[in-house]
Order: sequence, then structure tokens, then C-alpha cells
Amino acid sequence: MNKYIHLIDLNDYPVSWWKLLLELAHEIREDPAAYSEACKGKIMGTLFYEPSTRTQMSFQTAMLRLGGTIIGFDNPATSSVAKGENIKDTTKIVSGYADIMVMRHPTAGSVKAAALTAECPIINAGDGGHLHPTQTLTDLMTLNEEKHTLENLTIGLCGDLKNGRTVHSLIKAMSCFKGNKFVLISTKELGLPAYMKDILAASGHGYKEVRSLDDAIGELDVLYMTRIQRERFNSEEEYMAQKGFYILDRKKMANAKRDMIVLHPLPRVDEIAIEVDDDPRAKYFDQAKYGMYIRMALILTIINHNSRPAPLVTGRTIPKAKCSNPKCITNQELYLPRYFRGSGDTVICEYCDERTLI
Ligand code: CP
Repeated sequence: MNKYIHLIDLNDYPVSWWKLLLELAHEIREDPAAYSEACKGKIMGTLFYEPSTRTQMSFQTAMLRLGGTIIGFDNPATSSVAKGENIKDTTKIVSGYADIMVMRHPTAGSVKAAALTAECPIINAGDGGHLHPTQTLTDLMTLNEEKHTLENLTIGLCGDLKNGRTVHSLIKAMSCFKGNKFVLISTKELGLPAYMKDILAASGHGYKEVRSLDDAIGELDVLYMTRIQRERFNSEEEYMAQKGFYILDRKKMANAKRDMIVLHPLPRVDEIAIEVDDDPRAKYFDQAKYGMYIRMALILTIINHNSRPAPLVTGRTIPKAKCSNPKCITNQELYLPRYFRGSGDTVICEYCDERTLI
């Protein structure tokens, strides 16, 4: 039985829990001073194995605004990771120093791997191309504050739907609310992975795949733009073939609804022209600020033990099975127990959610 309130995947917790976080974040935004000593004496460890501006700094600011303090690294090259230390040892040590940890890592399933042996709660701040649950909480807060609903929205997701962990987490979350429809706008090469389509199909929500942003934009309530993620491609050639395919500009915005909102987890490269920033429908900078309030709510909830921990593993170990995803943490840190869920010939890796034939 797991005793800590880890946040690995938002869908490990019920929608009622997300709603409590959204309510608390709203209250904090209305009166931040009332929470300025709520985490006094508490320490947060931030372990960023990958670059970050918003996630890292909004988490750090959130803890500081709650009266707590922070330790950690933002470049593994300046920590003992550079000497070859594995995830288990690094996170076990930091979890002995801190009351709560936040971790970003380039490999899918890495934060769940850390949680298996951590001695304090750990929050997933992005694990490779897999999930980014606190970005999703940020997105939910933005929708709640700006659209005043999480239901009956037509949501266009555009760009790198294959590697975009923010997209995967958002689809999983929004498919828990009734009436939402999804328009997946991408090239064939960067389409949504099969396991995500399985999740969508199982949820019963309508979705369609299109290539043209021009054709789709007029029907959307929300347009979620994403960056083509150079760091996730196997070669520069493959990246260059996709770069610049989708660019949202003023001309395209002219065909959008008057109350459509544009979100982007940021950073952007060239997929939203700077000229769009002045359009009142562009909400991506507000979105980044909502991220700080929802992370304050999350830290507070975890530190105060204000919910029940979710189980970390629901499946079983299959020692001889090897996850089919080469970017899964179990294929890099070979000491990890190989947990899978489901039965039959095809099982699901508990770390990265990819299907594996056994
Ligand atoms: N949205 C997001 O994760 O941004 P950073 O990579 O800057 O943290």
C-alpha cells in the first residue's frame, strides 16, 4: 500500500479531487496573502533532469509564496547524476531531505519509478513524451476561469500530438467531462499514439483527425497549440520535415469563433506568430500564471495530507516481459520491477502505458 499522495498521472485521482484543487486555486488567486505561511517550515526538492522555465519556476514560486523553502537542481550535470547515479538513489536521498519532491525527466515512467522507493510525496513535472499532469491542472484551471466550464467544448489540439505529453494528459482529463469533442490536427507522422486513441475510444467521446488547421479552426471553442519538439526526434532530418507546418497567425484567427480561446503550454518556437499575442483570445500567458496558483493548491493539498493516496501499481510483475517502448524507463534502469496490467497476450506497461506483447 502506497502511503504518500504522489501525483504521477492526474487520472489516478477522481474528478472530484481535481475540482477541489480548482476551487482551492481560485481561492488562493483571490486572496494569496491568506496562504503566505501555509507551508512555513516545509521544504520542496525540485529535480529537473530536463530544461524548464514555467514548470520549475512556478513550482518554486508556489512554494515560496506558501512560506516554504526549496532545494534541488535544474541541471543534472551539476549533481551526482553526472557521476552515474541512478534515479532510485538520487530520489531516495532527496526524499530524506525534503517534505515534497517535484521531478522532470526525459524518460517515460521515470517519476513512477522514483515514487516506488521515495520517502516523501513526488509530483510528476513531465516524464519524457508521456505525461505532464500539472500542466493539465494548469489547463483545466485556465478553461475553468476563462470558459467557465469543462464540458461540451470542441477542443482542437494542433501540432506534435505524438510526443506532446501535455496533449496526452489533457485529452485524458477532458475525456472525463461530458460532451467534449476532440479535433486532432497533425501530420500523419505526428499523430496521436495508438494507446491514446484507445483511451479516447473507450471514453466514448467523439474525435476526428484532420491535417488542415484552416479547415478545422472555425468549429473550435478551444485551440491548443503545441511545439514541434525537436528534442524528441530521432534525427534532425525528421524534425526539419515537420518544423513550421502549423503556424497560427492573424489570418487564421480571422476564421475562428469570437469566443474561441488559444492555449499553448509554452515554450513556443514559431507555431504562434507574435502578432496573435495581442488578440484577446490569446490566453497562453494567462495560462502560465494560472499554473502558479494551481501548483500552490496542489502543494498545499499534498503537504496537508488532504486526500487519500492513489495506488502506485495496480497490475503485477512479469519478470521476463520487456516493455515495447524503447523510451520507457524500464529499458534504461534495468533494476526496476517490470509491472504490467491487463491480461492476455497484450499487457500495458505500468510505467509508460504502452502496449506490450508477451
Ligand atoms: N509548459 C511547460 O512545461 O513549460 P516549461 O518546459 O518551460 O516548464
